[in-house]
Amino acid sequence: MSISNSPPNSEEAATFPKEIASRESQKSEKGFERLGSISERSGIPVLEVRDLCHRYPHLDSNALDKINLKVFKGERVAVLGANGAGKSTLFKHLNGILRPLSGEVLIKGEKVTKKNVRTCRETVGIVFQDPDDQVLSPSVEEDIAFGPINMGLSRSEVETRVKEALEMVGLTGFEERAPHHLSGGQKKLVAIAGILAMRPEVIVLDEPTAGLDPLSSTRVLELIMKMNRELGITLLLSTHDVDVVPYFAERVFVLHHGRLEADGSPDEIFSDPELLRKAHLRLPRVAEVFEMLQQKGLDVNIQITAEAARDEILRIIGSRDQKVGMK
Ligand SMILES: Nc1ncnc2c1ncn2[C@@H]1O[C@H](COP(=O)(O)OP(=O)(O)OP(=O)(O)O)[C@@H](O)[C@H]1O
Ligand SMILES: [Mg+2]
Repeated sequence: MSISNSPPNSEEAATFPKEIASRESQKSEKGFERLGSISERSGIPVLEVRDLCHRYPHLDSNALDKINLKVFKGERVAVLGANGAGKSTLFKHLNGILRPLSGEVLIKGEKVTKKNVRTCRETVGIVFQDPDDQVLSPSVEEDIAFGPINMGLSRSEVETRVKEALEMVGLTGFEERAPHHLSGGQKKLVAIAGILAMRPEVIVLDEPTAGLDPLSSTRVLELIMKMNRELGITLLLSTHDVDVVPYFAERVFVLHHGRLEADGSPDEIFSDPELLRKAHLRLPRVAEVFEMLQQKGLDVNIQITAEAARDEILRIIGSRDQKVGMK
């Protein structure tokens, strides 16, 4: 783990959810299912942030303080941070919604400027934290068509894209529905469909599972994984839900008080409970149990997914039985 961008182990990403990843999942040497990475951490990063600082008017400290990061094509990255850490502020710089106080954002090596902001928004689509900030049209269909129409696409192409995006998020049949009559989870899916219809290379999702019930949250995560695997879309997702991170992300950035505190694989980040506590976060629940067992003096390794926990427990039981058998 490092603040600089160390190359990740392509085997690091855990599988979530199983149904979706079953085709590509493979048994790792640790024994649990992991999803192969489709990213190539070489060449020009699809997104790069250099010494980015941001300060909101009338405030005397920076909301972002010298952030440096790189995201490569096909990566699934989670941005972890407590309330007020700067996640939404960072995301709003990634396609030119906010302008830096200093530093710069580059998309495929090109600096985001006033001039190219339109193209940047076609490459990097953002799904806002609150779908009410994004889903504003009188019908679902019109809302999803908004982006493609603004891109100047033909009527038939817009229709194709709207149809495809609705299918992808599982909302076919909702075309005529008024977004303000949809549930929070459905509105989130409409917001994602609106971005998908623009076919961006990168999708940035600000807390996509916040406020969703477990089933809706799983559905949104399934969809996000599918976008990455089937369409090769690079994903950046912010959350404080540490439990979902090991299943989704192959890399994690930890933000605290506007600073990038760490950049590493989920295994690296979650092997440092002190870092997480400092950032007002916690270990995944599964890992907390292993930490408690360690504190009791048991020789266990901290695990971050249910499958890995199962295998570690079986290993402990196995070695205990062996010892008992030897006596
Ligand atoms: N429009 C604004 N004007 C002034 N200050 C702001 C504005 N938006 C955010 N801030 C401040 O900037 C800091 C970072 O906020 P930001 O919304 O980026 O955090 P976050 O990590 O997204 O938090 P959350 O998890 O609550 O969504 C906070 O201290 C916040 O109060
Ligand atoms: Mg936020």
